Amino acid sequence: MNTQNRISAFFLQVALGVFALCALNAAASDLHSVYTLQAPNDRWVVRALTAANQCPLITWDKQKPVAMHLRAPQAVVPARSDSAQSNSKPSVFDITSCEAEWPKGVQSAHVEGVAVPAPPQKINRILIIADTGCRLKASENAFQDCNDADKWPFKKVANSAAKMKADLVVHIGDIHYRESPCPEGKAGCAGATWGYGWDAWRDDFFVPARALLGVAPWLYVRGNHESCFRAGQGWFRFVDALPWTQERNCNDPAHDMKGDFSDPFVASISKNSQFLVFDSSKSSGKAYQAADPAFIKYQEQLRLANQLAATKPESFFINHHPLLAAAPGPDATKFKAGGSGGLQSVFSSIEPARLFPANVSVAMHGHIHLFEAISFQTDHPVSLVMGNSGSMNEGFAPNVIQPTDRLYKDAVVDNYASRSEYGFATMDRTEENGKDAWVLTEYTTDGVAVIQCRIQAAKSRCHPI
Ligand SMILES: [Fe+2]
Repeated sequence: MNTQNRISAFFLQVALGVFALCALNAAASDLHSVYTLQAPNDRWVVRALTAANQCPLITWDKQKPVAMHLRAPQAVVPARSDSAQSNSKPSVFDITSCEAEWPKGVQSAHVEGVAVPAPPQKINRILIIADTGCRLKASENAFQDCNDADKWPFKKVANSAAKMKADLVVHIGDIHYRESPCPEGKAGCAGATWGYGWDAWRDDFFVPARALLGVAPWLYVRGNHESCFRAGQGWFRFVDALPWTQERNCNDPAHDMKGDFSDPFVASISKNSQFLVFDSSKSSGKAYQAADPAFIKYQEQLRLANQLAATKPESFFINHHPLLAAAPGPDATKFKAGGSGGLQSVFSSIEPARLFPANVSVAMHGHIHLFEAISFQTDHPVSLVMGNSGSMNEGFAPNVIQPTDRLYKDAVVDNYASRSEYGFATMDRTEENGKDAWVLTEYTTDGVAVIQCRIQAAKSRCHPI
């Protein structure tokens, strides 16, 4: 190579270097969110959402960066004919969803320089939220003040929760609530994004949850708001733990019998205990007829769940809709049972009295927008409702449940704690005589502890702090 060629080669290399740097910077600035989620059978997946069409690079420990895999490309998905709200529009996903499975033995990961939460070595503190989005729903004339941080406090909840040093965050469903446009002249929600596309997901979840997404991996449980005819497309693009496929993306109602019924899966908490995650997103509030295809499908899923429950001494059954709960009322003096009639009809067809398999010690839910911790004299698991993390309150939990009140058939309550205000919860694990014991703490939106419950052997005891 002569001198002139060497100089040309040098400038070419510099130019390529500058180009590569620009490309890298463009990818970094296009990156919107990076987060880690729990997948079935103790696998962990990193997700990245980017405005670019290519997936960003991920660096495992100090290895050479590699490109993440495309999960779902950008697309404009036509509005479904069965959309939950009459005022509907196509879902614009001007964001690319990318993913990479966390390799065994890797300690850390960065996506375009952004640190990603690592899978926990041990799970000692679990942080729980549910029902977080800002309700904009024309069919119920319900419009929450999304622009007011006290009236829609999810960002406050997420920021307080981010300081709790949790090993795992669990979201028990109903992430997306912005289904309808804010009515003209309503300042509290003026300008709010709406519909089932990326902009509403971004403002309802990814922006307010940013701090909490950055501190720990999440386990996502699907709510009725994420069923296929509502925000299911975003559920599968962003937070569902299994592969995104044409049958499991909610774009075409013809696939809903696959899309609306994900198989249950387990995720270890400790050597003794596991989460048993159940997708109840499409379940009816009313008892099913035995010939209903949904009844048959849920029965299949529950039989599968029962087999999974047998794989560890203790399971926390986790699904969005409570089976054993009190419903909110106009004041705190009245009692009303609030369990899902549809799920009760399915579960009682397999476990007539207890509803849940024998080694399910705790059932965890959202859906009802309040906090409840319920322990039974009878042989039922502790029932926890934690749907108070941001979406519009719907009334008051009863202050007490009388010995004569019944949540379900012969289930007799012997310890009950409730709270109707917004907040979130943690569960701290300790080991006693080789068995897990838990302390459940309920917090205000500012992170002030207000109720504490001790949970062991399928019973809970709560007290105010
Ligand atoms: Fe719900």
